[in-house]
Amino acid sequence: MRFDVFSLFTAIFQPYLNVSILQRAIQRSLVEIQLHDIRSYTHDRHHVTDDEPYGGGGGMVMKPEPVFAAIEAVLEFQAGQAPPCPIILMTPQGRLFSQKIAQELAHHERLAILCGRYEGIDERIRQHLVTDELSIGDYVLTGGELPALVVMDAVARLIPGVLGDPDGAADDSHASGLLEYPHYTRPPEFRGWEVPPVLLSGNHAEIARWRREQSLLRTLHRRPDLLSQADLSPSDQNILTQLKSKP
Ligand code: ADE
Repeated sequence: MRFDVFSLFTAIFQPYLNVSILQRAIQRSLVEIQLHDIRSYTHDRHHVTDDEPYGGGGGMVMKPEPVFAAIEAVLEFQAGQAPPCPIILMTPQGRLFSQKIAQELAHHERLAILCGRYEGIDERIRQHLVTDELSIGDYVLTGGELPALVVMDAVARLIPGVLGDPDGAADDSHASGLLEYPHYTRPPEFRGWEVPPVLLSGNHAEIARWRREQSLLRTLHRRPDLLSQADLSPSDQNILTQLKSKP
């Protein structure tokens, strides 16, 4: 999977990409991340990438020319043609990023991500260049770089081989619409707090049942809003009915 990231602050990305699971994925050629500095696609002496908003008001707006030039050059398509892959703008106005969207994006061979900065971007970029807009939450950051890292991290770990364990992503919180069950490791007792005995029993069916119950219990307590959309079997429904009837 290849990501082409377009940003005015490409230096932000390297520290994270050089230490994370993403670094291993890049070294093993499972993921390729190409960073493109929008400023190097300016043609004026001062390499201007932003300007004052028409109509007045505060803040600066990202100019269209360098953004179109950068993306069209890297993705090798011309004005009026369909781009070869999705072009995603990171913006608080986008659709809310989720595990489901990460799963959809992981099916693509290539994704382009545009990081907005300043107060906004010229609307013509939104209308005539980008094909999708994503927000990582209802709050405003200073730019789309951290959101782009969030999206790349969430998508890359779904690519087969990126996580050490091939089933690593299957039980994740949100993968099936529920929060994940609690985890324990050695020692079996720490400061008097014991690991639930079922996990030491070696009975895999019992363990699977306990984990499912814990997932349902956590979701019911912490994120009941998720339950209406989750993939629930009749036995899950039974467990939930029992859990709800407990005080
Ligand atoms: N840029 C600034 N804030 C953002 C957010 N919450 N999500 C995506 N891009 C952003």
